[in-house]
Amino acid sequence: MQKINSFEEFQSEYKKSVENPEKFWAEKAKSFLWKRLWDKVLDWDFEEPKVKWFEGAKLNISENCLDRHLESLADKTAILWEPNHPSEEAKHISYSELHTRVSRFSNVLKSLGVVKGDRIALYMPMVPELTIAVLACARIGAIHSVVFAGFSAKALADRINDSSCKLLITADGSYRGAKTLDLKPIVDIALESCPSIEHAIVLERISSKPTMKAHRDLWWHELIEGVSSVCEATIMDAEDELFILYTSGSTGKPKGVVHSTAGYMVYAEYSFRNVFQYEGNDVFWCTADIGWITGHSYVIYGPLLAGATTLMFEGIPTFPDAGRFWEVIDKHQVNIFYTAPTAIRALEACGLDFVKPYKLDSLKVLGTVGEPINEEAWQWYHKHIGKEKCPIVDTWWQTETGGMMIAPLAGITQLKPMYATLPLPGIQPCLVDAEGKEIIGNGVEGNLCIKYPWPSMIRTIYGDHKRCNEVYFSTNPGKYFTGDGCKRDEDGFYRITGRVDDVINVSGHRIGTAEVEDAINTHRLVVESAVVGFPHPIKGQGIYAFVITSDLNGPSELIKSEIIVEICGHIGAIAKPEQIQFVNGLPKTRSGKIMRRILRKIASGEKENFGDTTTLLDPEVVQQIVKSLN
Ligand code: PRX
Repeated sequence: MQKINSFEEFQSEYKKSVENPEKFWAEKAKSFLWKRLWDKVLDWDFEEPKVKWFEGAKLNISENCLDRHLESLADKTAILWEPNHPSEEAKHISYSELHTRVSRFSNVLKSLGVVKGDRIALYMPMVPELTIAVLACARIGAIHSVVFAGFSAKALADRINDSSCKLLITADGSYRGAKTLDLKPIVDIALESCPSIEHAIVLERISSKPTMKAHRDLWWHELIEGVSSVCEATIMDAEDELFILYTSGSTGKPKGVVHSTAGYMVYAEYSFRNVFQYEGNDVFWCTADIGWITGHSYVIYGPLLAGATTLMFEGIPTFPDAGRFWEVIDKHQVNIFYTAPTAIRALEACGLDFVKPYKLDSLKVLGTVGEPINEEAWQWYHKHIGKEKCPIVDTWWQTETGGMMIAPLAGITQLKPMYATLPLPGIQPCLVDAEGKEIIGNGVEGNLCIKYPWPSMIRTIYGDHKRCNEVYFSTNPGKYFTGDGCKRDEDGFYRITGRVDDVINVSGHRIGTAEVEDAINTHRLVVESAVVGFPHPIKGQGIYAFVITSDLNGPSELIKSEIIVEICGHIGAIAKPEQIQFVNGLPKTRSGKIMRRILRKIASGEKENFGDTTTLLDPEVVQQIVKSLN
C-alpha cells in the first residue's frame, strides 16, 4: 500500500475520499490478499444501522498479516518482545516463525473443536503467545474477545457469558514490575459461573503450578507438542465478525463492540502507514496492552499487515525505574513510539534524571492516544523525548472506530499542541449542537459526530443491535455519535475536549459511572451513590464517588475500604475511586435525576457558582455536600 507523502497529496486524497469513497477505498484495498474480490464496496444505512464494506469478498486477515509477507519478509522480525524484567532476554520472532507458531496453535484450537464463528476469550499477559492466539483465532475464523488481564473474575465472567465463549486462553500468571500476579485463581473463580466454556488453555509464564481442573484445563505447552504447523486459513466473508472488544458505556453493562474482517483490515493498515509514516525498516512500539483497542489495531493488526516490526512490552513504565521506556527505545532502536498522555505525565513527574542517560536518537515519530494531552505534557514529550525533531501525532479515535480517525500525518500535517488536527482521508467529522443541528464553519464547538461510514467502524454491539442503534445512531439521526465534545478552530483543526456523556476517562481507560455505582451499591450499607470524574494531574481524570450510607454509627474508613473491595471485585483496580465522600443526600431534580453537573463541580474543588439550581428538589443539599467536605 502506498502512503501519502506531502500535504498537497493529503489534501487531494482527502478530496477524492469524500467525492467518491467507494472508488477511494477500492483502490486502497487492492494491495491485500483476497480469495475473491468484492461485488460492492459499500452498502450502508445509518438508520438500521447497517454498514457493509467489500461485500462478496473473501479473505483471511491472518494470511494478510503473515502468509502475504513470507516471500519477501520471512526472516524479518515481526514481533520484538521485551520482557518485564530486563535481565530476561528479549525475543525476536520472525514472520516465518510467527506464521509457523500461529498455524500450529490454530491446529490446536481446531483439535479442541473450535469452528468458524465460535467465540474465544483471551485473558493473558503481554507475551508473544497472546498475539499468536489472537492470530490463530482469526486464522480459523473464531471470533476473539480479549479481556484485559487487570479485570476482576466477575468482569471476566460477565464478558465470557455475554458472548457465550466456548474456550478461554489464559496464563498461570503475569509479571508486572516487581509484582507477580496469579491469573489462574482469578480464572478459576470466573469459570465457576461460565457454563459455555469447555476448556481453558493455560500458558505457563510464572511457573506457579496452579491447580488444573481435570478435563477442563489444558497446558499450552502440552497441547502444541507434535502438532502440525501447516494450517490452511479459513476463508472468511468480508463482513464476518473478526473480534469483540468490551468497552464501557454511560449506562448499564459493558458493550461488546463488534468489528468485522475486511474493512477493519484495510483501515488498520492504511491508518498505521499514513499517520506514523511508517517506512520499511522502522521499529514500531505501541505501549498499549492488547486488552484495549489500541493494542489490537497498533500492536497487532496495523503493524503486521504492513509487514513492520512491532515491539511488544510485557512490563510497566516504572520498573525497574522510570527510565524503562527510554532504555527500551535505545536498546531496540525504536523509530516510532506511541503511548498515552497519562504515561507521559507520570514519567515527567519522575524527573529528567531518568531520561538523561539515554540517547533516544533512533526516534523519528512520537504519538499519543486515549485522552486529551495537556500543553505541558506535550511540550515535555516534544523537548525531552523527541529532542524537538520528532513530530507528535495526537491521534483521536475509539474502540468503536477501530482505527485512528483524526490525527496528523507525521511530518506532513502542521502540528498544534493539544490538537488531533485533521481527519484522515475517508473520515467525515462534523460538530452538532445540543439539538443535533450541524454546526457549520470554523471557530466553533459542539458534539463530535461522523457523517459517513468508514471501513473499520463498529458493526454492532454483540447480541444487542438495538442498543448499538440507540447509543451511536439515534441521538443524531443519520450520523455516528462519538460521545466526545470537540472544538474546530479557525483553521479547521480539531481539538477533542473530552466525553460529554457519563463516561470517565481514567489514564486513557473508559469507565462508565453506572458500572462503578452498581459496584458500590452492592455494599450492604450503601443506600445510594453517584460517581463523577474530576481533573487529575497524572491520570487525566480521577473517579470521585459520593455515597449515602445507612450506617447508624456514621460512615467510617472501614466502609470506604470495603467499598473499594467491592469495586475491585466487580470491575478491577482500574476503577478504584480517588475520593469517596459520604453525604446525606444527592442533588436531584424533581423527576429524581441526579444533577451530575453539580457533583462534577464539587469534585473539582468548586465551592460556589453551581449555576442554576432552581430545578433541584432540595437546593440545600448542595451546600450540605460542600460543607461536609471541610
Ligand atoms: O474521549 C475520547 C478519548 O478516548 C475515548 C475512546 O476511548 P477508548 O474506546 O477506550 O479508546 C481509546 C484508544 C483509542 C474517546 O471517546 N480519546 C481517545 N483519543 C484521544 C481522546 N481524547 C482526546 N485526544 C485523543 N487523542
